[in-house]
Amino acid sequence: MSVFIGTSNPGFAPYAMEELRRRWPGITLSGLAPGETFKLSVDGTDDEALVRQLRRDEPIFLRHLFPVREELALSEQAEEVAAALVSFAGSLSAEVRGAKVAIQVRKAQDSTFPFSSAEARDLMVPALLEAGAQTVSRGADLILSVYTAKRSLYVGLSAPRDNLSDWPGGAVRFRREEGLISRAAFKLLEAEQTFDLPLTRFASALDLGAAPGGWTSVLLERGLRVTAVDPAAMDESLYDHPMLRHLRQNAAELNFAPGTFDLLVCDMSWDPHHTARIVKQLAPALSAGASVIVTLKLMYKKPMQTIADLLASYEESFDIKRVKQLFHNRDEVTVWMRK
Ligand SMILES: C[S@@+](CC[C@H](N)C(=O)[O-])C[C@H]1O[C@@H](n2cnc3c(N)ncnc32)[C@H](O)[C@@H]1O
Repeated sequence: MSVFIGTSNPGFAPYAMEELRRRWPGITLSGLAPGETFKLSVDGTDDEALVRQLRRDEPIFLRHLFPVREELALSEQAEEVAAALVSFAGSLSAEVRGAKVAIQVRKAQDSTFPFSSAEARDLMVPALLEAGAQTVSRGADLILSVYTAKRSLYVGLSAPRDNLSDWPGGAVRFRREEGLISRAAFKLLEAEQTFDLPLTRFASALDLGAAPGGWTSVLLERGLRVTAVDPAAMDESLYDHPMLRHLRQNAAELNFAPGTFDLLVCDMSWDPHHTARIVKQLAPALSAGASVIVTLKLMYKKPMQTIADLLASYEESFDIKRVKQLFHNRDEVTVWMRK
């Protein structure tokens, strides 16, 4: 039996669980942090096969998971909890020798776990060093994961790619760069990283729903020429940028020569079905093989159905490459497509 701890964006765990149930109808699921973190157990498969299957056909809402090696009752005595953590770290000595190991500790809000994440990490570091491992925060070969629920402690050791994300719980962090125009910029930065799609690969972008200019500024930084479309004003810092043209108009009224752009990005706050129609109408303005990155706004009650309908519509004009609810997506998911 394979046991994992799974995590989604807050409020989206029911959909992550639904996606898993569709793959493994016999799966056992139990919530740990409501709406966000849950335990999953699947009979008749091993951890490797399960992860392989997930990576081949990645769920949209499951952000992170780690295989549970041990589930321990959470003692009320801090010394006993500390001893359990040290003992688990010590039990890994043969596996971690010579490896770079990251320790990721996450706590449910209602957990009685007596330590901060940093304190728990510090307790386990000596056992890893003694085993000949090096401890790191990024770029690890192995991740030692600890999740503390209300009364249980779950621990595991896995390769970063087997966790779907090498960030703790899939919570991707970017340094808040000086002069960042909007938080929305993180969505495009995360899409670039998650989809392994360096934006420097493109030359000319069309940005629909561009104001105040977070995405536009990322594209300009990557050296692209940008046509930004939005009736609203762009941030002052972008005025007169030599590589930027701002069209203050409705995206439904655009017309460009065939093959003008090799990238279309769209973060428009509008009905997602209208948005799909507009993006599809603009397909002729894209060169063959151009990429399209769109946030699908989940403004209706049935997100799974909304996504299925929208993808079916987009598929008439594009190849769908990836669909993912990124950590920086709120009530939306991000899709990458190619013409
Ligand atoms: C979430 S904001 C975009 C944020 C932007 N991606 C950034 O990084 O700063 C959504 C934008 O969509 C624009 N929008 C909504 N409907 C539009 C339409 N029909 N045509 C063009 N822009 C539209 C709004 O004016 C708003 O500025």
